[in-house]
Amino acid sequence: MSRHLMLLLLVVVPAGVVDPARAEDIERDPIHYSAAPVHNAISRLQQRMEAGEVSLPYDEHFGYLPGLLSAMKVSDTSQMLVFSKTSMQRQCITARTPRAVYFNDDNYVGYCQDGAVLEILSVDPQLGAVFYTLDQEKADKPHLKRQDDTCLICHASSQNQGIPGQVVRSLYADAEGFPLLNLGGYRTDQTSPIKQRWGGWYVTGTTGKQRHMGNLIAHGKHDPAELDDMAIPNVTDLSRWLRPSDYLTGHSDVVALMVLEHQTEMHNRITRANYLTRIALFDESEMNKALGQPTAPRSDLTTRRIKSACEPLVEYMLFSGETQLTDKVQGTSGFAEQFAKQGPRDGRGRSLRDLDLTTRLFAYPCSYLIYSESFDALPEAAKDYVMRRLWEVLSGKDQSKEFAHLSAADRRAILEILRATKKDLPKYWQTPAAG
Ligand code: HEC
Repeated sequence: MSRHLMLLLLVVVPAGVVDPARAEDIERDPIHYSAAPVHNAISRLQQRMEAGEVSLPYDEHFGYLPGLLSAMKVSDTSQMLVFSKTSMQRQCITARTPRAVYFNDDNYVGYCQDGAVLEILSVDPQLGAVFYTLDQEKADKPHLKRQDDTCLICHASSQNQGIPGQVVRSLYADAEGFPLLNLGGYRTDQTSPIKQRWGGWYVTGTTGKQRHMGNLIAHGKHDPAELDDMAIPNVTDLSRWLRPSDYLTGHSDVVALMVLEHQTEMHNRITRANYLTRIALFDESEMNKALGQPTAPRSDLTTRRIKSACEPLVEYMLFSGETQLTDKVQGTSGFAEQFAKQGPRDGRGRSLRDLDLTTRLFAYPCSYLIYSESFDALPEAAKDYVMRRLWEVLSGKDQSKEFAHLSAADRRAILEILRATKKDLPKYWQTPAAG
């Protein structure tokens, strides 16, 4: 490992180095992260390429990027540009040549100008984040190569209990993309205050009076107050910093960034609920076998382990602790419209993908990933827990402070949307809600 990478790992990604005391063993029974069969968008694409049903076109400028995005149905309106050297292919990343990231509900793609590979993260319903690279050199048979350790060194952080997942960071970086570590940094999700977001990222769009750390190329020694004054919040054109034609679009859309920040941690929590529930059930069945009681009822310990695996998911999917917006947010790339258009919608035209962008991210704060394959693939015990808890909150029975941000009208609207759009709801969801 190069000295530089060591430094980055030690300082930039302090929580990226897995602390063995907090880390789950992802190769243990019943997970087997590296050996278990995969069933995700990339493994399906690879099969179709091998069967000759799809071929990836090669573009002289962008290599396999446009072909891959279109095969995976990832829109280029999701483009976001990050110039901190906090990821792989650091040598290609500077403020003039940021890395581009694209995403849809289940897939994320990283592209660097002159990068040797495209970096791909595909969410697998059983394994969570699974990593691949695609060589950017023109080939007769392009091959999507599974990667583990090279990526997990940063993508299985102790904050995620050593479980493979996504990361979004915010820190100050200079023109070369080097993070200014003395100024600190943040890990970003939907609870992060706007003023701590997007350090090291370009941001196109307007946030009104809300300041953020985006579009700020730091240099030398600053004190943080001076940096706050330097930040440029309402930018709709990046051409003063880079050549937009070097990218598929000239945008680094603020709404795409905010949806990404919701979605990445949501995926992480779905994966944690999946792994930790499966492990709890496995441990219990091993214990029961050892005690010669193979059909013993579920123990209190296992019930508690399932609860602690799943309650954080319930809170996050209902946007507990979400940062409140104080001014309107508007993007530039058309991402917001395209995202909302996907639905599904109820009889009154409402969708969990409808954006609010004035006081909060979504009009109906319940994650659209409830429709995802990974949510549906949660072990039954985890899904039973999550659906029961969602019902308790949405029906008004649970009035605890974690969910106080949801008004009676919010709860009713989400419940009605889910009744109309979510398949296989438990029967008790059809009884009339209180309140
Ligand atoms: C040195 C740490 C590091 C390594 C190694 C690394 N990544 Fe990342 N990756 C990051 C960080 C940090 C981000 C968040 C964006 C940023 O700061 O550039 C990220 C973001 C991503 C994203 C966008 C989705 C997300 O999680 O935000 C993809 C896709 C991705 N990486 C793929 C890969 C693949 C594939 C590999 C291995 C071949 C890999 N990464 C190796 C640090 C790393």
